[in-house]
Amino acid sequence: MQYFTTTSKASRRACDCVIVGIYDRGKLGAGAADIDAASKGLIKRLIKSGDLSSARGQCRILHDVAGVRAKRVAVVGLGAASSFRAKHFTAATTLALRSLTSTRSRQVLNTLTLEPIKDTSAYYLGRFTAQAGAEALYRFSATKGGRKPKAAALASIGMTLATRGDANKAKRGAEHGDGIAHGMNLARELGNLPANVCTPSYIAREAQKIARKYAKVTCKIINEPEMKRLGMHSLLSVTAGTVQPAKFIVLQYKGATGKPVVLIGKGVTFDTGGNSLKPPAGMDEMKFDMCGASGVLGTFLTAAKLKLPVNLKVLIPAVENLPGGNATKPGDVVTSMSGQTIEILNTDAEGRLILCDAMTYARRFKPDVMIDVATLTGACVIALGHHHTGVMGNSDTLSSTLVSAGVRAEDRGWPLPLGEEYERTLKSNFADMANIGTREAGTIIAGCFLSKFADGIDWAHLDIAGTAWTSGKAKGASGRPVPMLTEFLLERAGQLP
Ligand code: BES
Ligand code: MN
Ligand code: ZN
Repeated sequence: MQYFTTTSKASRRACDCVIVGIYDRGKLGAGAADIDAASKGLIKRLIKSGDLSSARGQCRILHDVAGVRAKRVAVVGLGAASSFRAKHFTAATTLALRSLTSTRSRQVLNTLTLEPIKDTSAYYLGRFTAQAGAEALYRFSATKGGRKPKAAALASIGMTLATRGDANKAKRGAEHGDGIAHGMNLARELGNLPANVCTPSYIAREAQKIARKYAKVTCKIINEPEMKRLGMHSLLSVTAGTVQPAKFIVLQYKGATGKPVVLIGKGVTFDTGGNSLKPPAGMDEMKFDMCGASGVLGTFLTAAKLKLPVNLKVLIPAVENLPGGNATKPGDVVTSMSGQTIEILNTDAEGRLILCDAMTYARRFKPDVMIDVATLTGACVIALGHHHTGVMGNSDTLSSTLVSAGVRAEDRGWPLPLGEEYERTLKSNFADMANIGTREAGTIIAGCFLSKFADGIDWAHLDIAGTAWTSGKAKGASGRPVPMLTEFLLERAGQLP
């Protein structure tokens, strides 16, 4: 995708489509006002006659508008002007671009960048424009039979700016947004692939592909015999019931020297619950239980693609959690790589069992910070729904840095506490800890379990159980938290304007 900026009037630009917006109560956005004037009041007339709606989620495409050089005008509803924010900008731009994918439109000009939006800037609007373009174009087709859908014609998106001085910022934003979009698309694609395709070995091959393609990247795959030698018996207990070999993926991107950021992603390519079998309803969605892995892999791709000056490591314990003759049984006790023993009271609390060994492995890199990302608990969906990622950890600074990054990137997280009162419930009569505590505060207790393996390293835990995918009619992976994590890296690397 190409991006460009312009300060000229939307009505004067020859292109395939201009996107303009209208607010409630007949208020026109800047682009709409220009089109209205050039077309002798067409927009206002169509609002009056009820042919154009200002409601969010509405988009109409007008053709051959007199006095306008563009072939089409896409009119999107922006809702109430007083509450119009960056997320509405992104949603409106996505909607307009998606509506255009069924046309031959190649070059499109977005005038919504002219709207006054609180708490944002040309840089972020450039970024959200690029992300909207990718979102509008993304189609999952890898396992669809028949004829593959034709790729949309959209090749170039312009942003109308009020002042020329914003051009570089908007373009820089679009460049970063394009990198983020590539990372999100990888995360979504891996998430959406069924578990009979996206196995631990498949994810390992994807990681190796990234290492071949990008500079300063190396990849190492650790197989089960070496995991045994390393003492990763907690991780190995999860893979005991399946014939799919587990893979421990170590990706390194050396864009800078100094202590690294280590990202760890839960890569359970399918979670049946193991012997603590899950109920059948909706179990297919447990193919998304590797979205922590795809999220950190996507972030890694973005960092390498944008050549960010960061020292980044990504660790992915990838396994399948199945019942079977060799599968772990409730009550089994294993010794984690850290030496701490764990009584596995519920084989469905498997994410923490693979993450804890990855956290111990991470110590060899002397991380500056370590962040794990996981679809860890159903309780997180109950607590925060599908809007906020749960943020926990042992460093308030790190947690709040991630929360702020999420706000700027429109990929939000919300802090949850950890503490001794919760941690107590993990007590076991037979091991150093159990892998489950009480049912209440399940997300926090999972966080407490992981905290026992952070041991002095600044660590944060992102529970993305509610945010990594959408259920229902629009079922599919979201690409989150690639925007939040990339924003975190961009800030650390001093790459934000
Ligand atoms: N992958 C699941 C968590 C999950 C469930 C995410 C539903 C999104 C939607 C995880 O491995 C799991 O099964 N967790 C258990 C933990 C419990 C046994 C303590 C859960 O949440 O029920
Ligand atoms: Mn589980
Ligand atoms: Zn799981």
